[in-house]
Amino acid sequence: MSKRPEEFRLDAGFWKVTGVLGIISALLMIGVAVFPIDSVLREASSVSTSIDFLFRFMAFFSVPIIVFVNGYIIYFAVRYRRRKDEPIASVGSPIHDHRALENTWMVVPTILMVVLGVLSYLAIPQYYLRGKDSAATLEAIGHTFYFEFRYPGLSHSVDEDLYLPVGVPVTIDLTSAEADEHLAVIHSFWVPEFRVKQDMIPGMIVPIHFTPTLIGKYDLICTEFCGVGHSEMRGHVLVVSRADFDAWYAGQQKSAAAKGARTIKLAAGNVSSGQAIFSQKCTACHNAAPFDQRKVGPGLENLFHDPAHPNLVDGKPANAADVAWILEHGFQGSMGAMPNQQANGLSSKDIADLIAYLQTLK
Ligand code: CUA
Repeated sequence: MSKRPEEFRLDAGFWKVTGVLGIISALLMIGVAVFPIDSVLREASSVSTSIDFLFRFMAFFSVPIIVFVNGYIIYFAVRYRRRKDEPIASVGSPIHDHRALENTWMVVPTILMVVLGVLSYLAIPQYYLRGKDSAATLEAIGHTFYFEFRYPGLSHSVDEDLYLPVGVPVTIDLTSAEADEHLAVIHSFWVPEFRVKQDMIPGMIVPIHFTPTLIGKYDLICTEFCGVGHSEMRGHVLVVSRADFDAWYAGQQKSAAAKGARTIKLAAGNVSSGQAIFSQKCTACHNAAPFDQRKVGPGLENLFHDPAHPNLVDGKPANAADVAWILEHGFQGSMGAMPNQQANGLSSKDIADLIAYLQTLK
């Protein structure tokens, strides 16, 4: 004898729970609608508002789904639990097929997904395309483990900090690259206040387009796990007035001219300050010990005097000028990555001091 369907009708308890879940949903949905996102995370670019709208839309309709699905799971688990007098192998009520219910939970989320898709399709090209109104196209290159920026008209690149003038539409071509292309990894360019987040992919150039709308200093974060230095891979975006930007840019042009004429005076290095810098900046990756006593990179005790390793990791002879080159530009090899001068925060004087110190080791 099969039981009559009446026994499985949803009872008064179900409708009470439905009412409570409805009220919780409504309150949370109002909360989502009025929540001031901007006061928690400032909207600092032209795309922030539309991204926040998408986020709000998604959160608004996710609330009832989360509340009802989980609310019913808890309610049904309690309401239809196995009673003490029931055999341990007893099966639950054989409820199945409720056409109206099934259609509802397929059709409503489908409509929501389609609407979200259309809204995203309208919003995302605003910044995932090369803007026709761009004042300039910059390049941002992810390296292990720092960001490099190139500006039109500047012969050198700028590391770590990205300067942008407020109110000026800009396109940034994103990619990832290393001297040895096999060692390039995926990074991700994320500026939370801009609501811009895009992977930097080796061999691929992805343009993003936006206008910074608020003067300020914002975190630039690599948000793709890219290796041992991932957590260190942070920079800043400095959004400044047009006048400040022009002044900074002119300064960069001047310093580039000065750099062209500059040579590091290697002979003037100071051994004891070199030793201090070494213990501050180098010992995380290098021992002052023989070559084979590696941390990340080789031991540097015999750097200039090791018959077993007459060449540096870049294959060049172990002389002061070539060591200085590695300190300045960094190096990426089979042992790992060494950041460049700017990422390590080394001045030219520091490099000369370090070399003076390393030359005394034997
Ligand atoms: Cu680069 Cu994480």
